[in-house]
Amino acid sequence: MLQPDLTYQLLRNLTSPVVAVTAERRGKENGMISDAAVRASIVPSVPRLSVYIHKFNYSHDMIFETGRFGLHLLHTMQFDIVRRLGFFSGRDQDKLAGIPHHRGKLGVPVLDDCFAHFECNVANVMDTGSSTLFLGDVVAVGRGAAAELEPKGELLTASYFRNTMPAEWRLEYEAKLGDAQQIAAEMSRTIKPVVWKRS
Ligand SMILES: Cc1cc2nc3c(=O)[nH]c(=O)nc-3n(C[C@H](O)[C@H](O)[C@H](O)COP(=O)(O)O)c2cc1C
Repeated sequence: MLQPDLTYQLLRNLTSPVVAVTAERRGKENGMISDAAVRASIVPSVPRLSVYIHKFNYSHDMIFETGRFGLHLLHTMQFDIVRRLGFFSGRDQDKLAGIPHHRGKLGVPVLDDCFAHFECNVANVMDTGSSTLFLGDVVAVGRGAAAELEPKGELLTASYFRNTMPAEWRLEYEAKLGDAQQIAAEMSRTIKPVVWKRS
């Protein structure tokens, strides 16, 4: 018999670095946080990555409809970005307004300050019920321009964020995670086949 709490704790070892995922649709920009992104190709001439985005996040439909997104590895000194993009939805506010950024080659927002960024065209998707796994063809990359001028620490991992976030954020983080888990629980049971529209 699986012990859900133990299983969840052990699965946390499989979380990725903390990434900021950005999108643009009909002139509206947005960004969110994920810790479920991995390299998805070992072929240098076919660079790919993948990331799981919950369907109830605003970013999900922006990426699904436009077929493109930006993905940023962050520094250990960018906790504020994690809170701003990962604790609130872009449905209610312009989360990127106070974060220096520019449009990349694909037209997606690229954060000026980051450890590294990747611009992707969606190559395929997989439904998980509660989320979509987006497979992205990486078409442009860069290191954060601001970070090159002034080092901003190490790569921000999910465990470092969870263990080191300011104490006053923890209750809020855990409440939001609990809400998302509840919504995702029912949705996760129904997985649909999806055929990705190729551009
Ligand atoms: C550390 C951290 C990791 C997260 N990982 C994910 C994830 O892997 N997938 C996801 O859909 N949401 C994840 N979230 C939650 C979204 O970032 C959050 O719901 C965000 O408010 C969505 O914004 P949006 O509605 O503007 O798209 C994470 C949040 C944090 C703080």
